[in-house]
Amino acid sequence: MTKPAPRVFSGVQPTGNLHLGNYLGAISRFVTLQDSYECLYCVVDMHAITVWQEPRELRQSTREVAAAFIAAGIDPKRHIVFNQSQVAAHAELAWIFNCVARLGWLNRMTQFKEKAGKDRENASVGLYAYPNLMAADILAYRATHVPVGEDQKQHLELTRDIAQKFNNDFAEEIAALGYPDGFFPLTEPLISGPATRVMSLRDGTKKMSKSDPSDLSRINLTDDADTIARKIRKAKTDPEPLPTEAKGLETRPEAANLVGIYAALAGADVPAVLNQYGGAQFSIFKQALIDLAVEKLSPITGEMKRLVADPGHIDGILADGADRARALAAPIMADVRKIVGFVGGG
Ligand code: TYM
Repeated sequence: MTKPAPRVFSGVQPTGNLHLGNYLGAISRFVTLQDSYECLYCVVDMHAITVWQEPRELRQSTREVAAAFIAAGIDPKRHIVFNQSQVAAHAELAWIFNCVARLGWLNRMTQFKEKAGKDRENASVGLYAYPNLMAADILAYRATHVPVGEDQKQHLELTRDIAQKFNNDFAEEIAALGYPDGFFPLTEPLISGPATRVMSLRDGTKKMSKSDPSDLSRINLTDDADTIARKIRKAKTDPEPLPTEAKGLETRPEAANLVGIYAALAGADVPAVLNQYGGAQFSIFKQALIDLAVEKLSPITGEMKRLVADPGHIDGILADGADRARALAAPIMADVRKIVGFVGGG
């Protein structure tokens, strides 16, 4: 019992409007990791309720995210696709981590500050403790690698801090159980590629996000071909043609964003895209981007529609995934209870 085997965990919130940022920054990368890792992909409904969700919409969005995973190419038979609330280990370990993480650590979390806004007193306690639940998601399976977009980096650093403090605080018990290198792994974030931070189509300095009031700011995974084309045509740009080198994008956030999106959709890198389109006007480049985006996204959108039309089928996949996730977490949680000093509970 030394180092845990490589294992990938990642989560997506079912809060409506899955967009191109979620796809390029996370879901498309989940797909590629399937060949090299054992993977768990989770619809994090417990994270979603840290801000108000209509129960009916939460159910719908949960199935929609699961459908997006599968439509994008995740194989729920070879890997595990499930929703968080079906596996009690997440909540149980999150409570223990509430007692490991320090207030000072959580006070530094920029996402809480952004989401709570000015009315901090009125934010839910869950929103504040959100990163502890995220650490529990990952560590309930002793996952070693976590693919995410750039915006989750700080949360993953906190996950490492929690793992480290747990390993230190309980070092004696952990060694006695036969883990000389610590119990929890120091999880590695996997944040790479040309689209780790996809920006708004209306403002290249703002992240593409579910909560932006302007629907033109993002491409949703439910948008049809005409809508995708209209949004890309309306995307903000500058009057210059595309540069021939990546350096020329440094002061042009909107151009950089569209080139990054193209690169990610094409499975290429930014220099390769500029090699092809450097010197081109946006009218030409935008049409190429529209064609590529429609080609790559339409099959996913179509498959998602088909899948959500049969909620019973999706619920079956989530129940099966939850059973397998529970089985993986059970021995880990049994050890956690022993390590902490809880009596009983296997
Ligand atoms: P969420 O639901 O906000 O986003 C899901 C994934 O999409 C990525 N993402 C982006 N990537 C590039 N550009 C963007 N504009 C963009 N917007 C979102 C996010 O980085 C994320 O990878 N806290 C997480 C969910 C979570 C989780 C976890 C992730 C809960 N537990 C455990 C990993 C491991 C979140 O809110 O993601």
